[in-house]
Parts: sequence; C-alpha cells; structure tokens
Amino acid sequence: MITIVNLVILRVSLFLLKLALFRLTEEKQEQVKTIMGRVKENLESILTVRRTPSPLRLRRACDGDNPFILTGPTEPCFNRCSNNSAICSFFPVPSDHFQRCVECNGDRSNCVEAYSNGPGLEDTDLALYVYGFSMFCGAGTIAYASSCQLEDQYDRPIAGIINFCPSDTDDEEEVFQVAKHEIFHVLGFSDNLYPWYRDENGNPRTRRDANGNPPTDANGDYVADENTVKMVNITDWQTRFGPTNKPVIQLVTPKVVEVGRRHFNCNTLEGVQLEDQGGGGTAGSHWEKRLLNYEAMTGIISENIAFSNFSYALLEDSGWYKVDYSNASILVWGRGDGCGYTAGSCGGYTDSKRRQNQPITPFCDFFTNNESNPQNLSCNIDRTAVAFCNLVDNYLYVASHISIPPEYQYFNSGANFNNSAPRLPFYGGRIHAADFCPYYLDVYSQAPRGICRKGIPLTANNEAAETYGPRSRCVDHSGKWQITNGSNTYTAQYSAGCYEYQCSNSAVIIMILGQSYNCSRAGQVIQVDQTVNGVRYRGGIVCPSCVEICYDDFENCPEAAELYGAPPTDSVGSLLPMVGLLFVAISASFAVNY
Ligand SMILES: *[C@@H]1O[C@H](CO)[C@@H](O)[C@H](O)[C@H]1NC(C)=O
Ligand SMILES: *[C@@H]1O[C@H](CO)[C@@H](O)[C@H](O)[C@H]1NC(C)=O
Ligand SMILES: *[C@@H]1O[C@H](CO)[C@@H](O)[C@H](O)[C@H]1NC(C)=O
Ligand SMILES: *[C@@H]1O[C@H](CO)[C@@H](O)[C@H](O)[C@H]1NC(C)=O
Ligand SMILES: *[C@@H]1O[C@H](CO)[C@@H](O)[C@H](O)[C@H]1NC(C)=O
Ligand SMILES: *[C@@H]1O[C@H](CO)[C@@H](O)[C@H](O)[C@H]1NC(C)=O
Ligand SMILES: *[C@@H]1O[C@H](CO)[C@@H](O)[C@H](O)[C@H]1NC(C)=O
Ligand SMILES: *[C@@H]1O[C@H](CO)[C@@H](O)[C@H](O)[C@H]1NC(C)=O
Ligand SMILES: *[C@@H]1O[C@H](CO)[C@@H](O)[C@H](O)[C@H]1NC(C)=O
Ligand SMILES: [Zn+2]
Repeated sequence: MITIVNLVILRVSLFLLKLALFRLTEEKQEQVKTIMGRVKENLESILTVRRTPSPLRLRRACDGDNPFILTGPTEPCFNRCSNNSAICSFFPVPSDHFQRCVECNGDRSNCVEAYSNGPGLEDTDLALYVYGFSMFCGAGTIAYASSCQLEDQYDRPIAGIINFCPSDTDDEEEVFQVAKHEIFHVLGFSDNLYPWYRDENGNPRTRRDANGNPPTDANGDYVADENTVKMVNITDWQTRFGPTNKPVIQLVTPKVVEVGRRHFNCNTLEGVQLEDQGGGGTAGSHWEKRLLNYEAMTGIISENIAFSNFSYALLEDSGWYKVDYSNASILVWGRGDGCGYTAGSCGGYTDSKRRQNQPITPFCDFFTNNESNPQNLSCNIDRTAVAFCNLVDNYLYVASHISIPPEYQYFNSGANFNNSAPRLPFYGGRIHAADFCPYYLDVYSQAPRGICRKGIPLTANNEAAETYGPRSRCVDHSGKWQITNGSNTYTAQYSAGCYEYQCSNSAVIIMILGQSYNCSRAGQVIQVDQTVNGVRYRGGIVCPSCVEICYDDFENCPEAAELYGAPPTDSVGSLLPMVGLLFVAISASFAVNY
C-alpha cells in the first residue's frame, strides 16, 4: 500500500560549542552565529523532509565502534556503551542529546541500562554542531563538515558537525556560501552517503544485505549501486597526442540526469561526472569542475558561486528531501554546450569548435606569461569578474616540476603560442580539479579589484573607469584604452571592467561614470571618450547580449527566461510509502569533506 506522507519543513537546530580547543575570536564567533543562522533559515525555506519522531535523540556509540557515521536503530552494546559524548568520532556534544544506552554480555544476557534517555531535541530534524577548532585546518580551509548519524527508517542524516577554521576570510557572503556548501555535504552530497540513498518510493537505491547494510568494497567501505554512481569510460578523450581512454565517475540518479540533459542540451546524457581529483574529502563528493566550474558544489570555491539546480536535484535524488527549486541560481557555464562538451576533453571540444570557426567558450587558449600581471583581460563567463585566461606554464607553479599528466595535455598551439613553445608538457589551465582546462578566471591576485559585486571605492588608478557594487557586471573593451591624466598619456592594462548595467525590453545599457551607453546589438562596439576629474578615457566597449549580462533578469530579458526559465512540464510530487526497515547499526568509513 502506498501512503502519501506529510512532508514537514526541515527544522535545523544549531549549537555553537565552545571547547578547550576553540580558536575563533569573539568577532569571528559572532560572524559564524549570524552566518549559520542564515544557512538554517535558507535550508528551512528550501527543503522538506519526512517527519522524524520527536524529540530527536542521538545514538551513543558502543566502545570499539568506528563512530563515523552511525546508522540504524539502537542496539544494545555487547561490550560497553561509549563513555564519551562524541559524535563524528571526536566532536563532543551535550550528553542531554543522547538516547538511552543498554549494555549486554555478548550472549544478550545481563542487560543493564548504562545511560538513560536525555531530554533530546524538540522540533528538530537535523542537529548541527558548530565548532571552531584549528585541527585539520589546512592552509586556506575556511570550514569542513560531515554527517555523523543517519536515522533508522530512511537513513536520512540527522546529525552533523561543521568546523570553522580560524581563517582570515571576513567576507560574510563568501563564508555564507562556504558554510552552505559544507552543510550540503552533511545533507547528502557525500560519497559515504550515496550507498544510503532512497528512491522516490522510499526504497533503498542500493540493495541491502540481511542486516540492512549496503555491500562493501575491499576496504570495507559501503558502495552504492550502479543506478546511483557509475564508472564509465570516455573512449574519445582527446589530448595533444591523440585520443585516449578516460575512466570517470558519474552520478546517474534521475533528477540529476534530467537537470544535466536540459542544462547541457544533451538528451543522451547518462550522468553527471563527479570530481576525480583532490583525494578523499574532495574526489567523489563534488561535481567535476571541468563540467560545472563555478557551481557551488565543485571542490574549489570561486568568487562567483551558484547553488544551481544540479545540487538541489542531487539532494532530491537522495530520497530524503523535497526541494523548492525556486532558490536555484542560474549556472551560465556549460549551458547548451551539447554532448560533445560533456563527453570529451576540453582539448577535443576546443579543437572541434576551432574547426567550425566557432567561439571556444567556456574555455580559452591564450597563454598567460605572468599570472600576477596578466595581459589580455576579459570577462569571466557569468560576467561577475574581470578575468584572465588561466592557461599558464605550470612548471612555475609545481615545485616538483613534474609535467601535467599526459591525459590533461591538450595543446600543441593556442592563440599566442605554437609547438615551438619551450615547455609544452607544462602548458595547461591552472586548476587541477578542472582537468587543467584553461578558462577565464577572476584576476584573484588583484582582488577585490576585478570582482564586480564588491563595493570597493575606486578613486585612485581607476584606469578602466569602473564602478563596483551589486549592480555591476563585467564588460569587455574593444582594445586597450588610452588614458590621459594631466600631461601623462598611457595605455590601460585592464581590457575589461566592471560597470553598472541594466536591461530593458531585451536592450542592454551600460553606465560608465554616470553616462549611459545604449547597445543596439550584441558585439557592437561603442566608443567611449569621457573626461572625469581631469582624466580622459578613450577606447571602446563591446556590447553583450541581454542573455549574456541579464541572464537572471527574466522580466527585462525574455530570451533569458526562455533559456533558463521553467521547463514546459513540471514533475509531479512523488509518493513516499511508509516502510519501516530494521537493520543493525554499523559505522561507515571516516570522511571529512572540504
Ligand atoms: C567516564 O569516563 C570518565 C573519565 O574517563 C570517568 O571519570 C567517569 O567516571 C566515566 N563514567 C562512567 C559512567 O563510566
Ligand atoms: C574502462 O577501460 C578500462 C581499460 O581499457 C577497462 O579495464 C575497464 O573495464 C573499462 N571500464 C568500463 C566501466 O567500461
Ligand atoms: C536563495 O535564498 C537566499 C536567502 O535565503 C537568498 O539570499 C538568495 O538570493 C536566493 N537565491 C535565489 C537565486 O533566489
Ligand atoms: C609579473 O608581474 C609583476 C607585477 O607587475 C612583476 O612585479 C613581475 O616582475 C612580473 N614577473 C615577470 C616574470 O615578468
Ligand atoms: C593581446 O593583447 C595584445 C596587446 O594589447 C594585442 O596585440 C593582442 O592582439 C591581444 N591578443 C588577443 C588574443 O586578444
Ligand atoms: C612559433 O612561434 C614563434 C614565436 O612566437 C615564431 O617565431 C615561430 O615562427 C612560430 N613557428 C611556427 C611554425 O609558426
Ligand atoms: C592620475 O594622476 C593622479 C596623480 O598622479 C593619480 O593619483 C591618479 O591615480 C591618476 N589616475 C589615473 C586613472 O591614472
Ligand atoms: C538610452 O536608453 C535610455 C533608457 O531607455 C534612454 O532614456 C536614453 O535616452 C537612451 N540614450 C540614447 C543616447 O539613446
Ligand atoms: C531549475 O529547475 C526548476 C524546476 O525544473 C525550473 O523551474 C527552473 O527554471 C530551473 N532553474 C534554472 C536556473 O535552470
Ligand atoms: Zn566540499
């Protein structure tokens, strides 16, 4: 029998736990509290779940358990209940949050209650414990997180930890995005959770053994069925030496595939590739950066971040949530690029576009000789930043001077180099996680300069006559501008800049230092000759189409609504039967996600 189960809004309880190792300053603690409050509010407005029994009580581990992640119902401990109020192996939580724990002899005799039920947590579906330790904080790590326990009926994560590292990032928006990213790992985007996913009827996607557990691999780690995570070979992966065979891991669950087919305009897409670089914690628990680039759940966070339909679809495919997609951000990267884009290397894609005389976006092939002083700046793909083509000589950045792996060497020539370049085996994109594919990356070495949303005042040295702030996006110059400052005339380095913009009736208007430039078509060059505060700016800008710059303004750019708006058919809500599965608790392997 199928029963429609009432879904309730996900209710998150937050606990900021201060312990001896706590390393956050008072100021940083305030920021973390505010940010986690925002994350909680955001998730509660997007996700609904099946009601869990109230109050929520966490399982206490038995001695000898590997308490990462605890699954299943309470079982008596056949040795001792752990005298340690820790979850996720070493993160302590208030013992009030635990349920009773019974200790028995191995033969189930002489059972005694070693700990009684704590009061537990009212009105809570997910308990999130927030810490500020410095342990496991690598250079530049802002935060990390993990799920700690799954509930016993459908295996949904009910407890997790997030640890904020004492990093010096104080941009609240950035820390919010990172915190949300981390909590997505806790909610379901994690390789140690895929084996526990449920289908739309609430049945396990991966077959279970008599104890209710998924199968394990040689290391004893649970593995998900091929209907969830699948290894496939890309047989036509083009390199500069010719085609090769590249094995990749794809997530093949239904909503993710639906979103992928629509986004890439590829009806034969069978799955969306997961990251294969970065080792445990990154590989397998993020989208492949070559494919989704600035999507929020890729393994390397960029300045522009989008929690897109891909990541929301993944949460829905876990079977644990219904998702309100209206909060999804638009992902410009890869949109409409076709099956040739998803099923091959960026080298192959670039070659085929070149042969057809078409633009090679989202990639680029302009060699940047000096990363800290890059030339030929352009806009990144969603125009949130001034960017440089990050095709560099990686010899300069890899201490070991080991060349790029052959499968990621794509180029014998590019826009400004040919096969006589001295270190071709090192020529490639700067980002390993993006399979060394080169693309326009924000000029981070000069940040916040170049990051359009940042409200930096540009009084001195404003050689591109830019305006920064939430209403600004990047526009390319038609060449390099000439600046006359008093008696001094020079050529600007910036060949793109951040300007306020608006769209109206599909037309684009760019504002430069208070003057509007009305575009009549995409690609049109409009001359700029303005003198402001004694500085004369002479050059041109290249008009973007409304889809290129107003992709999220459906009202004023109907073309964008057509590309990114709601599809004609909307899927119906799924039916979730009530099934009670019983199985023995076993812990999964340790994994911390970054
Ligand atoms: C738990 O351990 C602590 C210190 O290791 C000890 O003082 C305490 O008595 C123990 N409690 C129980 C119930 O075993
Ligand atoms: C992928 O190719 C490798 C080597 O050619 C082969 O050993 C492997 O079985 C293939 N895997 C799949 C899933 O086809
Ligand atoms: C999603 O919600 C958050 C706040 O809850 C908001 O800041 C953000 O703009 C929303 N994004 C979209 C694309 O609606
Ligand atoms: C790269 O650019 C920086 C900043 O302009 C400059 O200081 C440095 O000398 C340049 N390096 C090389 C190798 O040209
Ligand atoms: C790069 O900039 C130089 C100097 O401004 C210019 O001559 C050249 O055409 C540009 N190359 C490309 C590929 O844009
Ligand atoms: C390759 O580039 C170098 C330097 O830019 C140039 O001198 C040479 O003629 C080029 N060779 C070919 C075969 O195009
Ligand atoms: C113009 O010159 C002044 C004084 O030297 C300097 O402060 C300012 O940054 C210059 N502006 C530009 C756009 O070059
Ligand atoms: C540019 O567009 C704005 C808004 O539509 C309009 O007010 C203005 O007159 C236009 N300017 C020019 C030069 O056409
Ligand atoms: C996300 O998916 C929903 C539901 O299919 C759709 O209405 C919406 O237009 C999509 N958003 C984007 C940005 O693609
Ligand atoms: Zn991550």
